[in-house]
Parts: sequence; structure tokens; C-alpha cells
Amino acid sequence: MSSNVSSPRSDADREYEEGNRYTVPHNILRSEVIYGEGFQSSGGLAAFRETVLPELPLSPGSRLLDIGSGLGGAAFHLVAEYPVEVVGVDTAELMVSISDSRRPAKDPEGRTSFVLGDVFSAALEPESFDAVYSQDTLLYSADKVKVLARCAELLRPGGTIVVNDFCRGGSTPEFEEYVENAGYHLVAVSGYPELLAQAGFTDVVAKDVSTHTNHLLRRDLDAYLARAEHDPAIGRADVEHLVERWHRKIGFMDAGALTQGLFRAAKPLSN
Ligand SMILES: C[S@@+](CC[C@H](N)C(=O)[O-])C[C@H]1O[C@@H](n2cnc3c(N)ncnc32)[C@H](O)[C@@H]1O
Repeated sequence: MSSNVSSPRSDADREYEEGNRYTVPHNILRSEVIYGEGFQSSGGLAAFRETVLPELPLSPGSRLLDIGSGLGGAAFHLVAEYPVEVVGVDTAELMVSISDSRRPAKDPEGRTSFVLGDVFSAALEPESFDAVYSQDTLLYSADKVKVLARCAELLRPGGTIVVNDFCRGGSTPEFEEYVENAGYHLVAVSGYPELLAQAGFTDVVAKDVSTHTNHLLRRDLDAYLARAEHDPAIGRADVEHLVERWHRKIGFMDAGALTQGLFRAAKPLSN
């Protein structure tokens, strides 16, 4: 199967699908096939292990908060490999219910929990987390300083925040339309450290990981196309949809408009 599958879909189709990305089970589960089990982000588990995980403090008993926990893949991996607890928070009811339904198999010791809502949820207690992490989620927040300041409040003094997020490297009319339809609020990789500082964090480390993400997107797409050749469960319409989405993302990354940053920072020990 060639990756140059033509698409008859209109802009209205695309907007409808983008708007229902996290509310329709089929849309989530078909993306999981390309991202990998438990994930809704480029490179799936391998990417999480290569980027966010090495930055996290994982000493026994640590409590971690996953913002935008999606299908729970990162949380389930962490509790399977490390003696930690993970709370996931996600605004999509379906993500939380799918994660919950997978807990018995993926986390028999019950060291994960999933909260429906955002970081401002009353279920999250101030200074109760050793680390907060987030993969491909803060791009949905317009006021990142407000979200990051709440993360600082939720962390114990000396706690760590790790964020992997899509960012903006440039602008074209087509890219702006894409960003608006998807509901993204993108900042430059170089602008993130200032946002973290305004939210009260110190020791900020920022890396542009766009080249790596671009590689992951291509790798996921190639693996998906190879699988789609032989897997009768993968429908032609889904292949067309995902191939088109991936080509657009890769195109924007090749052009330098879409970038990705990896950020780590610390909550000061005292104010
Ligand atoms: C691209 S997915 C990434 C999911 C997961 N982090 C992963 O890597 O597989 C983004 C997730 O963030 C959730 N989300 C969007 N805005 C959010 C917010 N303000 N607070 C919490 N979750 C949010 C969405 O429902 C979705 O599950």
C-alpha cells in the first residue's frame, strides 16, 4: 500500500473529525493503532521512554501526576516498571473510562487512578505530588502560565515538572488554519522557559526535539501502513484519514512550522 493515498474528504469533514477526536470511541481506537497500545501521541511507549521518562524522579513511593493521561499507557508503564503511584487527569470522559476499564489487567496492584477533569480538579491536593508530567496536552491550553502555576501548587517543594509539547516554529496561512481547527494554542520552544519561570519554576531545561518527533511520525506511519496491508480489521477509510493527518503533520514539521519541545523544571524548595 502506498502512503500517497488520496483523500476525498472536505474541510468540513476534517473539522468534524478534529472536533470529535476524543469523544468518539472509533476515533480514539483507530489512532491507538498507529500510536501504539495505550497512547495517543507520536512514538507511543518508545517515545515516552526516550523523552519524558528519563527526566522523571522515580524513587520508591513517589507520586506522579499525568496531565492529559489519555488511554493511560504512560501511567501503566510507570507502575509496572517502578514502585510509584500515578494519578492521571484527562478532560475526555471516554479516555478516563477506557483507562479505568484497563486498570485490572494493566495495574493489578491498583497504583494508578484516573480523574476526569483538568489540573484544577478539586480531587488533586496541593503539594501532594513529587512530579508532574505531560505529553502532547498543554498545546490545548490557551493560558499555559495558569496551568503551570497550578502544577507548581500541586507539587511538593523541590518537585519536578516534565512537559513534552508541540510548539510553533513558524507560520503560514495553511498552518494557522490547521492550528485553529485543531484547537491548539502553540508557543515557541524558546518561549516556554519564560512561561515556566512566570509560573514559579526554576532550573528550567528546554530542548527542541522536533527532529526526533518528525522521525517518530514517519516511523509510526510506515509501521502502520505495513500492518494495514495485512490486517483486515484496519479499514480503508481509516487508513486514508490517518495517512492524510500524518502527512499534514510531517509536512508542517518539515517546513519548520510545527515543532516539539521537551522541558524540565523544578519547584523551588522555598519561596
Ligand atoms: C494528544 S492526547 C495525549 C494523551 C497522552 N498524554 C498520550 O501521550 O498518549 C491529549 C490528551 O489530553 C487531554 N486533554 C486536553 N486538554 C486537557 C486539559 N486541559 N486537561 C487535561 N487533559 C486534557 C485530551 O482529552 C487527550 O486525552
